[in-house]
Parts: sequence; C-alpha cells; structure tokens
Amino acid sequence: MKIDGIHYRTIWVADDGWSVEVIDQTKLPHEFRTLRLTSADDAARAIKDMIVRGAPLIGATAAYGLCLALRDDTSDAALHEAYEMLAATRPTAVNLKWALDEMVKAVKPHGHNARVEAAYTAAAKLCDDDVEICRRIGENGLKIIRGHAETKPGRTINVLTHCNAGWLACVDWGTALAPIYMAHDAGLPVHVWVDETRPRNQGASLTAFELGRHGVPHTIIPDNAGGHLMQHGQVDLCIVGTDRTTATGDAANKIGTYLKALAAYDNDVPFYVALPHTTIDWTLSDGIHEIPIEQRSAREVTHMTGKTASGEIVTVEISAPGSAAANYGFDVTPARLITGLITERGVAAASREGLLTLYPERRG
Ligand code: MRU
Repeated sequence: MKIDGIHYRTIWVADDGWSVEVIDQTKLPHEFRTLRLTSADDAARAIKDMIVRGAPLIGATAAYGLCLALRDDTSDAALHEAYEMLAATRPTAVNLKWALDEMVKAVKPHGHNARVEAAYTAAAKLCDDDVEICRRIGENGLKIIRGHAETKPGRTINVLTHCNAGWLACVDWGTALAPIYMAHDAGLPVHVWVDETRPRNQGASLTAFELGRHGVPHTIIPDNAGGHLMQHGQVDLCIVGTDRTTATGDAANKIGTYLKALAAYDNDVPFYVALPHTTIDWTLSDGIHEIPIEQRSAREVTHMTGKTASGEIVTVEISAPGSAAANYGFDVTPARLITGLITERGVAAASREGLLTLYPERRG
C-alpha cells in the first residue's frame, strides 16, 4: 500500500542485499520510521516489542530472522537455536511457527554453502505468497461487501473491525481490511467503525492510519461502543482478523473480539473472520482451551503513550498507582458465533467440514 505516494511493504531486504528493514509500528501514527534488523536477535526483539506485529508479519519477520542467523552460522545447531529463540517471542499467532517450519524445510536439505541463499529465497517467497493470499482474501471478501451493497443501493455499508488486520499486520493488503480496500477502490460506499483496541490501541493508531492514508472513510470508537451501534442498525457486518484458527473454526484474535461477536450474534449482524491458510492450526479442535493466550506487561494497561500539543511523544500513567492490572492479549471467538471464514480459497463455514471443503488436502 502507499504512504505519501510511495509503495511500501511492511518488510523488505535493504539495499545492501542482506539486512532487513521494517516499519517501526510503535511510532505510528505520529512518526513514520523504518528500522534495520541485522541479526536474529534484532528480529526477535522486533517481534517481542511489537515493532512488528500482526500474525502474518510476525511470521515473515521470523523467516528473515532465520536468514540473519544463518549469515553468522550455517550449522544445524545455529539454525535450531535461532528457531527456538524466534518461536518463543509471541505465543498466540501460529503463523510464527508455520513460517519457521517452512524455512527449516527450505534450508535444511542444502549444503552449508548454499543455506544463506536458500533462506533468503524462501523468505522472499513466503512474503510474496502472503501478498497474493491477502489479495485473494480481499477479492473473496469484496463479494460479501458487494452483496450487502446490492441489498441497500445508494446507502453506505458500515463495517466494524477490531485491532489491526490491515496491511501493517501482513506484508501488504491485510486480511480483514483487504476486502474493505477493494470495496472502496471499486467505488462502493464503505465506512469503517474502528475499535480503538485497548490497551495498545492498534485500531486507533494503526487501522485508522492505514484507512486514512488510503482515503477510506472511518470513525474510531471506544471498544465498548460496538454493541450500541449494532442495536441501532449502524453496523452492516463485522470483519476481523485472527492469530490462530482451529481446525473446527474457533478463532483467536485480539482481546475484545469475542465480545463483538456476541453483540453481533445478538443483533443478527454477520460476523466474518478473514484469514490466510497459514493461520489455521490443524492440530487443534478446541480453541478456548487449547490456544495459548499471550499475557503481556501490566504497564500496557496502566500507562498510555501519545503526542502532546507541542508534538512531544510522552507516556503517562492513567490508573490508580499501585493497582494490579491484567493484560490478556487475545480471546477466542467460538465457531458458532462466526458467520463465515474469508480465506484465499473462498468463504467457508466456521466448522471442520467448512474448512475441509476449501482445504481437501487436509482430510484424513
Ligand atoms: O497483538 P497484535 O497487534 O499482534 O495482534 C494482531 C491481531 O490481533 C490481528 O487482528 C491478527 O494478527 C490478524 S492480522 C492479519
């Protein structure tokens, strides 16, 4: 997608041909800064500190992290050590492990002299594939938005989304936001309700930034507002992303997603989850009990960072000093609350059978 007329992906190999550049998402929306990663440690830190975030982008960064590790040491032991370090950075998004496994498969058969080149080739392919997958998710989701537009000609289609599942969360396009970009580009009157997404505000800072730069009409709302808007007919459909979806269609996504799904269910608002196949964990069938939920620092809840009127970026305490705070990063929306899973292969029912219809190679 474009920023000030320049096309960016979220991750790319720098002009030196080996170091890796990313957009520092902790600085958005106030500053657009890129950061150079030169080691596997850098890549791990970028994922852990959420300089990069979003399930597909975490996977892509881990893939390049392995490339950087192999530049220092091409042995199996070094590969294994870097794999373990990168895999341990964040627990919920399964794309991380998927990407690392893909990289090991691509690199291991090669002799030591060919491993670095094989790794960079595999990481670049993984990124290119992610772009194409997200583009197809966009096309499949566009059909849904178009369907809504046809039932209410001339009226704005209001889509509610939670967190950031846009191009900043992937390599390009995004998952939940790809259909919205395509609808907007196709001239459909689409407006997005953007949940602010406490505590890190990925909605208010990242989704709003993306949509604004692309000219998509949107409104930031407090996380608690979605139910009210649905009760008053102000939401036509919800589209969210996911960090791990079970083989049975339960979907983990940013904390608060489940509450939106409940409100959508109660108000007959269609609730879609957009995902690439790399987010499906075929080994799990009970999302609520089996998907590991990340817990992050209490400080993310008790403090907030923002820009003052004088342009200074400051962090302030917003809660009663000394109070304990809990920070669960994700929750699980059970399949029964999900209208459909928008994938690169089409839209599936959120069920084992639904997913197997689209991914028949997983049968048996
Ligand atoms: O903690 P984050 O910002 O990495 O969480 C991201 C999300 O929850 C996204 O909705 C999810 O990764 C889908 S990204 C296409």
